[in-house]
Amino acid sequence: MPERDVLTVRAHALASDGTGVARVDNLVVFVRGLLPGETACVRVTERRKKYWRAEVAGQLVNNTREGGLDNVTAQASRMAPPCPVFGRCGGCDLQHMSYEDTLFWKRRWVKDALVRIAKTDVDVLEIIGMKDPWRYRNKAVLHWDGSSLGWFTANSHEVVEFDDCLLLSRGMNDMVRYLKPYLAVGAAEPSEVVLRQDAAGKVYWIKGSEAGGESESSRFDGSRIEVGDSHLSIGFSPKVFLQVNTEQMDTLLRCVMAVADLREGDVVWDLYCGVGLLGLGLTRCARAVVGVEENADAVSDASENARHNGIDNIEFVAGSVEGFLASDQAALGLRPDLVVVDPPRAGLSRDVVESLRHIRPAKILYVSCDPASLARDAGRLGCGADGAVYGVRGVQPIDMFPWTRHVECVVLMSRVGE
Ligand SMILES: C[S@@+](CC[C@H](N)C(=O)[O-])C[C@H]1O[C@@H](n2cnc3c(N)ncnc32)[C@H](O)[C@@H]1O
Repeated sequence: MPERDVLTVRAHALASDGTGVARVDNLVVFVRGLLPGETACVRVTERRKKYWRAEVAGQLVNNTREGGLDNVTAQASRMAPPCPVFGRCGGCDLQHMSYEDTLFWKRRWVKDALVRIAKTDVDVLEIIGMKDPWRYRNKAVLHWDGSSLGWFTANSHEVVEFDDCLLLSRGMNDMVRYLKPYLAVGAAEPSEVVLRQDAAGKVYWIKGSEAGGESESSRFDGSRIEVGDSHLSIGFSPKVFLQVNTEQMDTLLRCVMAVADLREGDVVWDLYCGVGLLGLGLTRCARAVVGVEENADAVSDASENARHNGIDNIEFVAGSVEGFLASDQAALGLRPDLVVVDPPRAGLSRDVVESLRHIRPAKILYVSCDPASLARDAGRLGCGADGAVYGVRGVQPIDMFPWTRHVECVVLMSRVGE
């Protein structure tokens, strides 16, 4: 094992946190800022038993493009990050490479997680990227530390300010500029500042736990987004989850509707339904949909969304998915042909997995924003190679969060023998 603090290493892959992966004497070294195919002098920042972490110490000593690339599974083309605070700010992880290469690696991360964790070697479709992958967010959770307003750094609670965040619309950036002096007068104590933008481009902000902070003239007491080709109008109130990328929200919904492949008369459960986006879309082909969500505001938004869109074959249940699955309503109501799950990043709890294994619906459609928890849950639900209960089909990654390490994924699990 090398004792030195400074080493010369070459990266042969990109880890799912955006760091370059190198090997030194059978030890894996994750290097911040190093891309596959590149060699550099790096400084070790953390030593663990199984791996080390390091950062590029100086100039890249070699950026090998051709020849002699043993062990390099794929490269990445280095790009000058357009954002001046990239590298310090925790908002983006991948601005130092071309967009096409970020898509290549995100798809690879999904595949690797399914093979390594779920032990299922399935085809992963080409990831659906964006034509223009900038200024896509309709929401930002920023931090005010008493004097600065911005994103946190990657691994700490230090605030990094920006002049023009390229993930946010110009209107949201204007709002940040407007807010700084306003916050400085009013509040010294740290707090979260949430910005949200509706389809008309109107920007709202909410500070800390106060709902509906004043923007120039408007209070944020609710807003709507029209979901492109899907012709759904989705309303949302201040404290509910909404997919952050408005354009890709439509891609996600179309993909879920296509992959679900519903038959007339099918019954669908939309678990973790938020304001009802996926379930409302699926009502078009289903007999009945039941949405389950624990955030009471989201449930009332979802019911209002059903009314607003003239949909009457959906009902929403307020409460935890765990509670619903253990309830009489789940046991005695219509049996689901398809169960959609779209849990938070941590994935499904053990209780939910146990209930689903017991109910054994013909199809489970898993929408995930974290390949590792998706793969863990796929394994627990019985998608592994040995004695599989479910076969995994149609793994469709979607680039919902360009320039970050995150990737959305839609996976259909069909009961074996169906
Ligand atoms: C990733 S979001 C999905 C929302 C929705 N499917 C959509 O596309 O807009 C996860 C949702 O699950 C809800 N949630 C988290 N844990 C839950 C639980 N144990 N039971 C019910 N809902 C939960 C959150 O409030 C959030 O609205």
